[in-house]
Amino acid sequence: MAKASIPALRKETEELREKIRRHEYLYYVDDAPEISDAAFDRLMNRLKEIEAAHPELATPDSPTVRVGGTPREGFTTVRHARPMLSLDNAFSYDALRDWDRRVREGTGREEIEYIAEHKFDGLSISLQYEAGVLARGVTRGDGSTGEDVTPNVKTVRSIPLRLDDRTVKKLELARSFEVRGEILMTRKAFEALNRQQEETGGKIFVNARNSAAGSLRVLDPSITAQRKLDFFAYYLYVDGKAPFAKHSDSLEVLKKLHFRASDDWKLCDGIEAVVKYCESWDAKREKLAYEIDGVVIKVNSTALQNELGFTAKAPRWAIAYKYPARQETTVVNDIIVQVGRTGTLTPVAVLEPVQVGGVTVSRSTLHNMDEIERLGLQIGDTVLIERAGEVIPHVLKVVKEGKNRRAFRMPTKCPECGSAIHKAEGEVAYRCVNAACPAKRKESLLHFAGRHAMDIDGLGEKIVDQLVDEGLVKDVSDLYSLKLEQVANLERMAEKSAQNLLDEIAASKKQPLSRLIYALGMRYVGERTGQLLAENFGSLEELGEAKAEDLGKVPEVGPKVSEAMVEFFSEPANRKLIKKLHAAGVRPTAEKREIKSQKLAGKSFVFTGALEHRSREEAGELVQQHGGKLSGSVSKKTDYVVVGADPGSKYDKAKELGVTVLTESEFEKLTGVK
Ligand code: IVH
Repeated sequence: MAKASIPALRKETEELREKIRRHEYLYYVDDAPEISDAAFDRLMNRLKEIEAAHPELATPDSPTVRVGGTPREGFTTVRHARPMLSLDNAFSYDALRDWDRRVREGTGREEIEYIAEHKFDGLSISLQYEAGVLARGVTRGDGSTGEDVTPNVKTVRSIPLRLDDRTVKKLELARSFEVRGEILMTRKAFEALNRQQEETGGKIFVNARNSAAGSLRVLDPSITAQRKLDFFAYYLYVDGKAPFAKHSDSLEVLKKLHFRASDDWKLCDGIEAVVKYCESWDAKREKLAYEIDGVVIKVNSTALQNELGFTAKAPRWAIAYKYPARQETTVVNDIIVQVGRTGTLTPVAVLEPVQVGGVTVSRSTLHNMDEIERLGLQIGDTVLIERAGEVIPHVLKVVKEGKNRRAFRMPTKCPECGSAIHKAEGEVAYRCVNAACPAKRKESLLHFAGRHAMDIDGLGEKIVDQLVDEGLVKDVSDLYSLKLEQVANLERMAEKSAQNLLDEIAASKKQPLSRLIYALGMRYVGERTGQLLAENFGSLEELGEAKAEDLGKVPEVGPKVSEAMVEFFSEPANRKLIKKLHAAGVRPTAEKREIKSQKLAGKSFVFTGALEHRSREEAGELVQQHGGKLSGSVSKKTDYVVVGADPGSKYDKAKELGVTVLTESEFEKLTGVK
């Protein structure tokens, strides 16, 4: 980084933060981004860079905290300033009318002005702002005490970390207040998460609500940061009280403060208008990006709210109308298997068609073998299914075992290509590892062409779809024998762009070995592993011959990775693919690491904090040149933890486990370099 004075850098960080805050709002709350993702990343990276070099400039409300901090041991319990009560439920319109009668009697009014809002199906959270900065996020817990989940909450992009001073002033709002709302996951994010969990054999979430809860209440906030959570604000407290004459004023102010609040609330004169609102949203709710499980109705006037007060459990001035659950029972006629784009086998229940909430349902995903076992499901059983929105329904439980029930078994051969199915020890997923399996073709091609892989610009989804559907490309090596007229004949492809694409493909032959290894899409082999493998093996052929124990010697390559790699190279179709790539001229080699001595053989190192004389990468390289091993985390097996300035939690861990801690100069002595 160019040297700049601290005051200049401070000014720059402040400007960067303000810009980032504005663009986060435009993107995550307003759904109206003004700049590209890449331009946004540049702002964020610059801020990260300054904060890393000058930790004294970092602040707890900086947008950089959104990536999540270090894991914690447990949550602290916090008492709510005001209890977070639940709401009474109404399961019918008549129950709503009864409640309206009680409200009218309680206030002596003939007709009440209500606000009807979506009842978001997530988990409620209390956000406390002090002097305009998010100070604390607490879950509802038992209503009187909840869990402090502040670092997790800070990763949710639609939650402002700092409010705009001028807006707070203009609204004449005390700068310390509490916002209550719901953390949730959109249907799309939930489905994507489950797809990913299916892939990696992780926990499958039954619905968006559970996945939101499971993503927020984790001790490692960097996990929360990876999950796409959203926040909707629905209540504002200042000094423990509703600050305005009307609840509708609060909802408007929340929006002005740049909280995400639903636009779909409605002022309703009298309960029949509320019933109409509930009915209209029952028909439309499936089209929402997120799930609602009902409507919350609140008395709009704060004065009347105060008159009505609370029971021990819930406010008298609000009620939740709950939509009937979309569940039905039906018979599982068969269980079939689908091969996902990345080769994972997903069992799918073929159902006796049944109407659920106005839609005929005949399929239901079963995710994986573990799920089938957990349900105790066999073909012929009667099951309870639930449809949440437009998501493919899921099986909740077996309600009756079939008379002639039969157990389902995973096939041993891929139903798409006939290759043997693999299942790694200790993992849930069964998969086809044939890189040329037609089910995986398109995905493999897109990954191969990706920016961080072979970087073939112009080979996007539309082109890949056509190349595969027209039978022009069966595996990645076929890209290199494409002819100009074949490409030019594709839809919306002019000769010039066809030539550009062929040039890009030809240029990719020059990509380094590390990228090619990554581009092949072996499980667990990311960019960094690709680099480490390239440094240690020198060519794809050599890598293909390596045994699990050779692979295991490469730093950061654990047994899971080496096993997946051996599995990949043992598949004849993959060996053939590598030969074809070689024949097509894709045969990069890499400089192998120069081994200078074995004086650190058998010793494992972890680095934390900033070193003075070299980067951590350079220090790591040194360790390996002398036969030592690098590791990302501290365990009892770690031999040395080298500590630089501002070390992270790894230093604490080292002290806790009694691992030898070295300063940089002690490390230099050990390696014999200065
Ligand atoms: S108001 C004093 N409004 O429903 C304020 N709650 O079943 C009381 N919920 O615990 C809550 N959407 O987690 C309110 N628009 C909304 C809501 C809402 C969802 C949740 C909230 C509450 C639960 C009660």
